[in-house]
Amino acid sequence: MTKQFHLGWFLGFSADEWNEPFSNGGSPWNGDFYVEMAKSLERACFDFMMVEDTLMISEAFGHSMETYLKHGLMAPKHDPAPLAALMTAATRHLGVVTTMSTMAYPPFMLARLCSTLDHISNGRTGWNIVTTGENASAQNFGMDELPSREVRYEMADEYVDVVCKLFDSWDEDAVILDRERGYYADHTKVRTIDFEGKYYKVRGPLNTVRSPQGRPAFVQAGGSPRGRAFAAKHADAIVAVGNGPAGMKKYREEIRALAAEAGRNPDDVKIFFCITPTLGETDEEAQARHARMINSDRFIEQSLAFIAGVTDIDFSKFDLDKELPPLTTNGEQGSLDKFAQWGSGKTLRQLVIEASGGLVSSVELIGTPDTVAKKMGEVMEEVGGDGFLITSPSLRMSRRYITEVTDGLVPALQRLGLTRTVYTTNMLRETMKEF
Ligand SMILES: Cc1cc2nc3c(=O)[nH]c(=O)nc-3n(C[C@H](O)[C@H](O)[C@H](O)COP(=O)(O)O)c2cc1C
Repeated sequence: MTKQFHLGWFLGFSADEWNEPFSNGGSPWNGDFYVEMAKSLERACFDFMMVEDTLMISEAFGHSMETYLKHGLMAPKHDPAPLAALMTAATRHLGVVTTMSTMAYPPFMLARLCSTLDHISNGRTGWNIVTTGENASAQNFGMDELPSREVRYEMADEYVDVVCKLFDSWDEDAVILDRERGYYADHTKVRTIDFEGKYYKVRGPLNTVRSPQGRPAFVQAGGSPRGRAFAAKHADAIVAVGNGPAGMKKYREEIRALAAEAGRNPDDVKIFFCITPTLGETDEEAQARHARMINSDRFIEQSLAFIAGVTDIDFSKFDLDKELPPLTTNGEQGSLDKFAQWGSGKTLRQLVIEASGGLVSSVELIGTPDTVAKKMGEVMEEVGGDGFLITSPSLRMSRRYITEVTDGLVPALQRLGLTRTVYTTNMLRETMKEF
């Protein structure tokens, strides 16, 4: 039997494709648009939607908010947690992964929020663990600049330890509803954690009932060696931008080895590779759509602003028709390395065009639903597993694009036996572990 793979979707609670010919109107802020999207993805049997988040309006490109607000790119961005509650209330099986930064939330608040969301969703909540990579975000939390990556991950390790202890501060059978003795909960099954580490001090217990999954599914996107080790130690799912099938395979093997080293079963860590398929009625039409997109000035400006936003490097100051100078970042180094193709001799313009698909595509996928589905199957066969994380090439959603995937690409994948046609479990971690 063909080996099945998982599907997730990556999005932000952001502006939609407001200025494209098939626009939704530009105001998804009451959540209806994304709730509708959640229902569509559930119909297509996705494991989860992952809602990204950042906590600033970037000025990385040209030292100004202008480009970001002009395009509605990376800003405005609304809080994903209330949206997650709405989306899970409207669905029954789809998981919703909410991005929350270890820099921003006190651990107690995060554990409490995750526990509450996991109850509201009946066990379909995930937490995308991010440490935050932009100085502009740090400046919203009383800091002048971000701690180094090393310190951020050291803090995040301790943070995850604290929240896990908080999640475990209630036993599964603490709520007894004993009418005869008049006890709602048994206080001997709820205990303080008395945590005192290098960075955090938390007494506990959590004041929420233990959640259906015990703790949310942990999702992470470790790019750097430190980030990969963190992800392999903690995550139930890892999202990653791979460098073609060979790079994806290598990344997956490395994570599986790190997970085994950390004493885990590598099969418990599912890797989802980002892709941004461009679909069409014919392969030629899909190619033409892709070419139209990547050759537009708007695409080039947006791509440069995006890579500036995630690396805190001002890409407006480089000549488009020259090579990039050597660069490093305290932000997303992996994204920078993949984008820059160091040593290739390519100009910045070439890099942007080649990084088409919003800079987050592991492999190029352009064609009819059948063409793309077949290629996804071949890539996954070569990589060895576990799933794909889909997002739109423009990084913004339209009903049209969602429908192309849910009613075009996914049925084509299902016809090949590559993705699920029913849900057999109810909670997110179980769904991800099913195969
Ligand atoms: C698919 C994907 C989604 C991500 N989503 C977010 C996000 O929503 N918020 C955020 O602050 N960082 C996000 N990141 C950045 C990662 O958390 C991480 O910082 C990045 O992959 C760089 O790895 P490093 O921290 O090991 O350097 C994302 C990365 C990837 C690949």
